Amino acid sequence: MVNAVSKLTAQTDTSRQLTLLIESVTDHALYLMDPDGVVCTWNPGAQRIKGYSAEEVIGTHFSRFHCPADRDAGEPERSLAIAMSEGRYAGEGWRLRSDGTRFRASVVIEPVFEAEHLVGFVKVTRDITESYQAQVLLRDAQRALASTQQFEKVSQLSRGLAHEFNNLLTTIHNALDLIALRCAADETTERLIGNAQAAADRGALLTRQLLAFGAGQTLVRERVTTANWLQPAMAALQQRCLAHHSLSLQLRSDLPDVLLDPGQLEAALSNLVGNACDAMPQGGRICIIGDIERRLDPQADTPTYRNFVAIRVQDEGHGMAPDVAARASEPFFTTKDIGKGSGLGLSQVFGFITQCGGFVDVSSTEGGGTTVSLLLPALEVPAND
Ligand SMILES: Nc1ncnc2c1ncn2[C@@H]1O[C@H](COP(=O)(O)OP(=O)(O)O)[C@@H](O)[C@H]1O
Ligand SMILES: [Mg+2]
Repeated sequence: MVNAVSKLTAQTDTSRQLTLLIESVTDHALYLMDPDGVVCTWNPGAQRIKGYSAEEVIGTHFSRFHCPADRDAGEPERSLAIAMSEGRYAGEGWRLRSDGTRFRASVVIEPVFEAEHLVGFVKVTRDITESYQAQVLLRDAQRALASTQQFEKVSQLSRGLAHEFNNLLTTIHNALDLIALRCAADETTERLIGNAQAAADRGALLTRQLLAFGAGQTLVRERVTTANWLQPAMAALQQRCLAHHSLSLQLRSDLPDVLLDPGQLEAALSNLVGNACDAMPQGGRICIIGDIERRLDPQADTPTYRNFVAIRVQDEGHGMAPDVAARASEPFFTTKDIGKGSGLGLSQVFGFITQCGGFVDVSSTEGGGTTVSLLLPALEVPAND
């Protein structure tokens, strides 16, 4: 070793020293290009990383290592121009090996001047595929963890709220029972008390379902004939609206049945109608549409089309800006004032529909209204089979 070093330092030929240095670098591609980007030298590191021999590459343009899209976008020329104007180009991107496979490259290009004239560029490339992939995996795992944690927060909150509401509703129910017993029965008062008791009952049912949802239990699903269910539900949904909102229903006559928890569907539609009203403070039309759509089944292992019952809630309100639309289904995301929005409506709708094997589509234009579609797998087999 000492001998080799002393031999080397004794070398007077600096260009040979340089060649030896470059030839011994095997984990970096290190090569020179002329001012136009034509490759002039090639080291073993370049051969190892890119798979080309020196004979194949010297005399050709370095853009051959770029992916076609980068080449078409003028990326090779841009990197040389930056190296020239700023004294250095440093970047990261996908490059091609000789066998057509891609690798993630970390690239540095520096210009070489002789007597103030550009004589070429030196380029150093490192293969960072493994660390890049590790970073991508880590980022995905962090995202998945964050979304699990968010849903866990929603579940906890749902459980807490449901308990509180249950206590309040029990008090209301008991008080109504006592009022009903004591009150001299005139017909209107009796009807009002009856309505209030029915509403308290429905509230108690919803809180039980919310508790089940919060505890991650499977909901009690039943076969629902969509049209038969939607028509009577309209009266309760109408109650969510103000006088200047008009609510209408358009149904296809041949809507197939679906399998779901009707109480949860009512809660979901009530949330959506509430959002539609909030988006139209000056009033406007809300339309609930029942339709059939043929779509890719998100739960199938191979791409399969199937029929879905699409229940759409359509409004002509202020719509959502793209950044709001992207986050609308996140738990706790709200653009409403404190006390007006919890940011839990859409996230619960998404959770419930996913549990039913379906999915939700939100289409919204800023200033042009919003349509939220609940897509539920259609039961193809008739009920009496
Ligand atoms: N129909 C709609 N029109 C416009 N914006 C909507 C509509 N539905 C939802 N959004 C937006 O998505 C956000 C989240 O909705 P949601 O989860 O129901 O929570 P919240 O209604 O409590 O804010 C809303 O704050 C609003 O900005
Ligand atoms: Mg809401």
